[in-house]
Amino acid sequence: MSAAPTSAPETGSTGVFSKSRAAIAARTLRTDRWWVPPLVTVLGLAAFIIYATIRSFMRDDYWVPDYHYLTPFYSPCISDSCVAGSSHFGTPVGELPAWIPLGFLVLPFLLLFRLTCYYYRKAYYRAVWFSPPACAVAEPHAKYTGETRLPLIIQNAHRYFFYIAGIVAVINTYDAVLSFHAKDGGFGIGLGTIIITGNAILLWAYTLSCHSCRHIAGGRLKNFSAHPVRYWFWTQVSKLNTRHMLLAWTTLGTLVLTDFYVMLVAGGTISDPRILG
Ligand code: FES
Repeated sequence: MSAAPTSAPETGSTGVFSKSRAAIAARTLRTDRWWVPPLVTVLGLAAFIIYATIRSFMRDDYWVPDYHYLTPFYSPCISDSCVAGSSHFGTPVGELPAWIPLGFLVLPFLLLFRLTCYYYRKAYYRAVWFSPPACAVAEPHAKYTGETRLPLIIQNAHRYFFYIAGIVAVINTYDAVLSFHAKDGGFGIGLGTIIITGNAILLWAYTLSCHSCRHIAGGRLKNFSAHPVRYWFWTQVSKLNTRHMLLAWTTLGTLVLTDFYVMLVAGGTISDPRILG
């Protein structure tokens, strides 16, 4: 009986093509439709990115003055280029050229928060980078360097983007509170209020289900019994964390739904069904 190989694979040969693996020419022996999940993933992510990019640069139909509906893609709107009433935090920034989105303050951080998310990493490493595209399917890359050098070392900053995402969730919550507005002033509720508020709640759920949040809540503790409050938060975040993938996709959908709805109402294509006011 020959001894099992003990040395590491030689440089330049990794995965199923490494010297320590069986010499099988086929890239994979899987016969199922393993390529469907990565294909669906890349289509879903591409659709969101295209939609969000177009809407972020449109500068139209993002604010409904009658009901104080503001799309999350333009929040907070803090420049003189924003339409009257949409700047909930003032306009400390002057006019912006057309190539800068009005939501410029948070869009890059939200993008980095999602790009460095543990779930999205798995999704686009497989679907876009093919590293690997699926279990037991050979990747096309000759070398694997992990997240140890630029640009992927930035993935380790995810925790800091989580803190910023928390601030953005507070801003979205404030926008949701303002959307309880009647046409003639005072308290009101419309379908838009429900959509904007539902989106804010789901964004909180996604943000709090983050793996970094789970670590912040309960990580580095030697025993939970001495920290009952942190233990309680850790168990709650852990429950949410099991649905992180679902929340990642759901919130992409609710972001688009919220923006699309605000666009339709702001542009006069549909009117907002009112429950109150
Ligand atoms: Fe997904 Fe932090 S791991 S948002």
